Amino acid sequence: MNEKILITSALPYANGPLHFGHLIGAYLPADSYARFERMQGNDVLFICGSDEYGVAITLNAEIAGKTPKQYVDHFHSLNKGLFDKLHISFDHYSRTTSKEHAPLVQEFFLDLLKAGFIEERVTKQLYSPLEQRFLADRYVVGECPKCHHLEARGDECPKCGASYEATDLINPRSKIKNSPLILKDTKNWFLLVDKFKQELSEWIKKRGWKPNVVNFILPYIEDLRPRAITRDLDWGIPVPLPDAEGKVLYVWFDAPIGYLSIAKEWAIARGQPDLWKEYWENKETKLVQFIGKDNIVFHAVIFPAMIMGQKHPYKLVDELPANEFLNLEGKQFSKSSGWYISMEEFLTKFSADQLRYALAANAPETQDAEFTWDDFQIRVNSELIGKFANFVHRVLSFVYTRMEAKVPEMKDLDEDDQAFLAGLEGLAKEMKNNYSNFRLRKATQSLMEMSALSNGYFDKKQPWKSSGERLETTMAICLEAVKTLALVSFPLIPSSAEKIWKMLGFSSSLETILWEDVLKSSLQPGHCLVKPEPLFSKIEDTVIAEEKQKLYGHKPDRVYPALKEEVAIEDFGKMDLRVAKILKAEKIAKSKKLLHLTVDLGFETRPIVSGIGEHYTNPEELIGKQVVIIANLKPATIMGHVSQGMLLAASFESSLKLPSVDEAILPGSKIT
Ligand code: 2FM
Ligand code: ZN
Repeated sequence: MNEKILITSALPYANGPLHFGHLIGAYLPADSYARFERMQGNDVLFICGSDEYGVAITLNAEIAGKTPKQYVDHFHSLNKGLFDKLHISFDHYSRTTSKEHAPLVQEFFLDLLKAGFIEERVTKQLYSPLEQRFLADRYVVGECPKCHHLEARGDECPKCGASYEATDLINPRSKIKNSPLILKDTKNWFLLVDKFKQELSEWIKKRGWKPNVVNFILPYIEDLRPRAITRDLDWGIPVPLPDAEGKVLYVWFDAPIGYLSIAKEWAIARGQPDLWKEYWENKETKLVQFIGKDNIVFHAVIFPAMIMGQKHPYKLVDELPANEFLNLEGKQFSKSSGWYISMEEFLTKFSADQLRYALAANAPETQDAEFTWDDFQIRVNSELIGKFANFVHRVLSFVYTRMEAKVPEMKDLDEDDQAFLAGLEGLAKEMKNNYSNFRLRKATQSLMEMSALSNGYFDKKQPWKSSGERLETTMAICLEAVKTLALVSFPLIPSSAEKIWKMLGFSSSLETILWEDVLKSSLQPGHCLVKPEPLFSKIEDTVIAEEKQKLYGHKPDRVYPALKEEVAIEDFGKMDLRVAKILKAEKIAKSKKLLHLTVDLGFETRPIVSGIGEHYTNPEELIGKQVVIIANLKPATIMGHVSQGMLLAASFESSLKLPSVDEAILPGSKIT
């Protein structure tokens, strides 16, 4: 055995605290896998670190009144602390502002440039004369080129959902200063990813990955085009060329190279600076990269292309376990809107293992999943405590109090004993399979099966009524089951498994023992147990009720969009706003966002095409509603449908609703 396994988890942005979705997306599955593979005797290197560059970070730092460095320092240490509290067993957790990172990123860039895979191009970008800088899309707002919504973002329109380049916006403005922008020539460097089309598609076809990943990636590769990999920014890794002042590398160019620079930093810290190459430059290494589904393209296409263009024989990814998303009580986690549970606060009330188990039991492996407070309580009280810990406690306290805390001898096995031991063996194999195939959800199920089987055996054998050799054999077998439960649960709930291990009287740590060794050897008769203690605290209904109250009654810390420039009353007067009653509302075929409405203006009825479909998935609910429209807007044709007017909608972040007008007001009334 002794395979080299290099495990990475997506580098989390140092742009906010981690939430449960991140944890179950790329960190908990990777940790369980790393722990499991170490127990198989494999040589594991598990690395990760904070992703600290990028426009989202500069923008949020600016909004928070901090420098980008102050901002990332804060979230880097916060998230690193959270990973520690969650017992994520990285061999090294670093960051992309580390000393080792920039030189390696620049070497990657120069290698690709020399090999002809990077090209300089001049393009027009939005420039803010007031701020004297080019603005990336997230810094830009303006009028949507499709639906003319005036508050469209630089990359997509929150109203009609169209996505475009920031340069396509009409009257683009600076999001921070609200000042006008102009187009100005600027030089940038493009990665010619299209040159790797053939190599990428041949490589990916040999991967044996899940068909849904391959079928998604292959057409993407077919359509590959050169991508700009530099930005006009002052936060990032400088482009290592003499004529590139003010240019930095795009965050998605530098971040994945973090997987190498962090391994390098780890090797240097161990006093063996080249040790990282034994993983990264070794064909025999198995590279397993845990990511969320939104990171697939970068890990399966762009980063592999960057590696193919290097002169060093760096590893290409072998396995890419990608999880879907986890929601919170039916909605996306969102700190700004208060739909959020602070992990830090959570861990002051509940244990890391309670969370690890509940998240694993709901892992979004094949589809999006949910964290709910009720489910959390059930997972902990009925499963972890009711089945798993209950068996462990029954057995350990029985032996401790009634058998002088000594492991009894296993004598003649009857049919029940044999069937139970065979059942345990089968389930231990199943657990092994689950972990090797990244199936955490299934692992929690097999663990509960093993606990239920064990409780069933204990109940059937009724040791409290038994005595002599029979009792000794029963309890020796029960202790074997406790030992097996500790072993197989370690990758999932490591500190609880360690506690059981200690209560079994072992002074070693499960971190250093081997899976097969534990299964092969039995507890020695006469070996002394340690006084048993409860593994988990029960979660009371009142605690869950309080948490729900906090979540549902939370007042969010909101960031309100800046006000636009002042306008004269005459400008407003040009607008003819009218009350309209919606008579018909239907989806437009082949569009998720567009609805075709017929509205009554009192003096006439009109068609209006509106991009609110995603916010009103059941359009019929709009019928009869009275709304406000701009009635003198120039008609437009959208997806072949004429639209005579525009509905006024109220939007905040990702939610949008139509404000309604009292029924007593007649359609056609003027709004002034
Ligand atoms: O989506 C994210 O959180 C990114 N920061 C992941 C980067 S992974 C890697 F490429 F560094
Ligand atoms: Zn739009």
